[in-house]
Amino acid sequence: MATVGFREWLAVGRAIAERKLLRYEEGARLTDRFEQRLADRIGARHVLTVTSGTNALICALAATGVGPGDEVLVPAYTWMATAAAPVMVGAVPVLVDIDESLTIDPKDIERKITPYTRAIIPVHMGNVPCDMDAIMRIADKHGLLVIEDACQAVGVRYKDRHCGAIGQAGALSFNRYKNINIGEGGAVITSDDRIFRRARNYHDLGTWVRGHNEEPGEQLFVGTNMRATEIEGAMLGVQLSKLGPMLKRLRKRRDMFASVLGKSSRFRISPHHDEANAVGLSVIFDRREEAIAFAKRRGVSRLQANSKHVYTNWKPILDKRTFHPALNPWTWAKREIDYDIDCCARTLDILDRTCHIALGHRFPMPAMRLLAHSHVR
Ligand SMILES: Cc1ncc(COP(=O)(O)O)c(C=O)c1O
Repeated sequence: MATVGFREWLAVGRAIAERKLLRYEEGARLTDRFEQRLADRIGARHVLTVTSGTNALICALAATGVGPGDEVLVPAYTWMATAAAPVMVGAVPVLVDIDESLTIDPKDIERKITPYTRAIIPVHMGNVPCDMDAIMRIADKHGLLVIEDACQAVGVRYKDRHCGAIGQAGALSFNRYKNINIGEGGAVITSDDRIFRRARNYHDLGTWVRGHNEEPGEQLFVGTNMRATEIEGAMLGVQLSKLGPMLKRLRKRRDMFASVLGKSSRFRISPHHDEANAVGLSVIFDRREEAIAFAKRRGVSRLQANSKHVYTNWKPILDKRTFHPALNPWTWAKREIDYDIDCCARTLDILDRTCHIALGHRFPMPAMRLLAHSHVR
């Protein structure tokens, strides 16, 4: 999580002084400028700022045309927003196991594909990228959309690309726990002009007043309001400047921890799909008891304990309950979807034996090195 301080305070003060708080009013430019800078940084044609990561996912699904009757593959280990977003566009989530990398298992993706599968939402959890090469191959083979949930991996690289900018669309979160932190916020990423136009339409009601339908032949459709304010644009601009240095510090600490822990036979570092750019670290044990014991160490937490990210705790999804019965997508799904409590038992087993290591980007390197060495003593 990035720090928020004086620079953000100053930027917000300036935005208020300019009296242009609506991003689409004449002369407002802070959100536009942020979007252009972020797009350049991550190598995407378009970034559209919205009010949250959840809304970014919903907007991306709506923009790519996912809807009623569609099945969307989501990992069993993620924040519930990933599974809720398909429901909000009338589709149903299908749970897929993770592998030891803690990201969606491409082999289980293949097993879960049905004739009704329309999209995959790979989630880059805790700054760890998914196996995007394998996922894009599977998606191409089966004609599926890939909408990346990069809410927990803003700015993180996967080989020569960036998380969120590899599939047809991506979603970022800027809430208080994320790499860019403005309290609440999010963004849709895409390099597809049509998906971008549809996302812009959806996030701003489908109104004609802002020229969202400038393409001939494109019909406006009813959307909602997910527009960001210039206050957010102001904070985002400052936070974006902090992103690179923060990731660099995480990268250095990850290298150091991996090299220190890697020398001990007690630990097995969780596999990572791009070691050269890794900024997240966890270790996996053969037995649950070893993970419980290790989790008592400073800066270490057992993943199972963080249960809100595990499907077994997504009660409204498991119960297939929506705010109105007539708008319940499970009633019009083409088949019965199984959410038995042990439907992703492999995920539970892996999480049970895995410990996350906080890399402490705010702490000096010598202190983190001492901590790493204390783990192997
Ligand atoms: C993996 C993942 N997806 C989606 C979201 C939703 O983001 P937000 O809280 O900004 O709506 C989060 C936020 O915690 C997340 O961690």
